[in-house]
Amino acid sequence: MQNAVSMFNYLSVLPYNIEAKGVVLVESKPYYFAVAAITIDGFIARFPGHKADWTSKEDKTHLHKMEAKADLLLLARKTYEIAEKELSGKNCLVLTTKVGGIERKGKNLVYINPKKKDVQEFVEEKGYKKICVLGGRAAYTYALEKGLIDDLFITVEPIVFGKGIPMFDKEVELKRFRLKSVKKLNKQGTVLLHYGKNLFSKRFAKKGLRQNLFSKRFAKIA
Ligand SMILES: NC(=O)c1ccc[n+]([C@@H]2O[C@H](COP(=O)([O-])OP(=O)(O)OC[C@H]3O[C@@H](n4cnc5c(N)ncnc54)[C@H](OP(=O)(O)O)[C@@H]3O)[C@@H](O)[C@H]2O)c1
Repeated sequence: MQNAVSMFNYLSVLPYNIEAKGVVLVESKPYYFAVAAITIDGFIARFPGHKADWTSKEDKTHLHKMEAKADLLLLARKTYEIAEKELSGKNCLVLTTKVGGIERKGKNLVYINPKKKDVQEFVEEKGYKKICVLGGRAAYTYALEKGLIDDLFITVEPIVFGKGIPMFDKEVELKRFRLKSVKKLNKQGTVLLHYGKNLFSKRFAKKGLRQNLFSKRFAKIA
């Protein structure tokens, strides 16, 4: 069982096709991972438009590494506008209510209104495989609500705002995550938490490991 769990952990972060003995596992769904820096009291910013000038250099290094792993960045409009310069040249999908469906704004930039055009459909049509959900609140909340977050990387900075913008702002059906790793990034105590979807919560346990392994992420074709 332990081996099956480790194997699943391993498979769940691999976006490629895998051949096992007598079985070919084919990746059927794109992999979504959210990356956020929060304060001890759970805020991603102090006020709308607040730049991430409060995060540590270690978190910035981590953020850039995570961005580089993705073939698409999913952002909400305000965050995109704040970070536009740093994001140039990267494939960005921006959530907004200001377009009728989908509008290409540049070679690497697409605006999408999720009420009119399904984000997952767009991602699959274009063949994106690794989507980094970069925030802000609207993008995190959208991805959470749609059950899109496969992995969640949260950097907790040892800072308190007291008041600010939370990571999520909408009541959703209970979502369980499972802690995969904890890493202290610096002497000040910045901590990186890596969570994955909790496939072993009561709800999933009823359905069983086998079903999760083979029907959720992969299709068994031989
Ligand atoms: N600490 C971190 O890791 C982190 C990460 C990212 C961002 N941030 C910070 O978070 C702040 C921005 O967050 P925010 O909450 O103010 O804004 P935001 O989530 O970045 O953007 C809000 C905008 O998203 C669009 N939107 C919201 N709900 C939508 C929906 N259901 N469908 C389509 N579009 C929707 C709307 O754009 P339209 O008005 O165009 O319709 C809305 O004005 C900034 O200070 C930024 O620096 C922090």
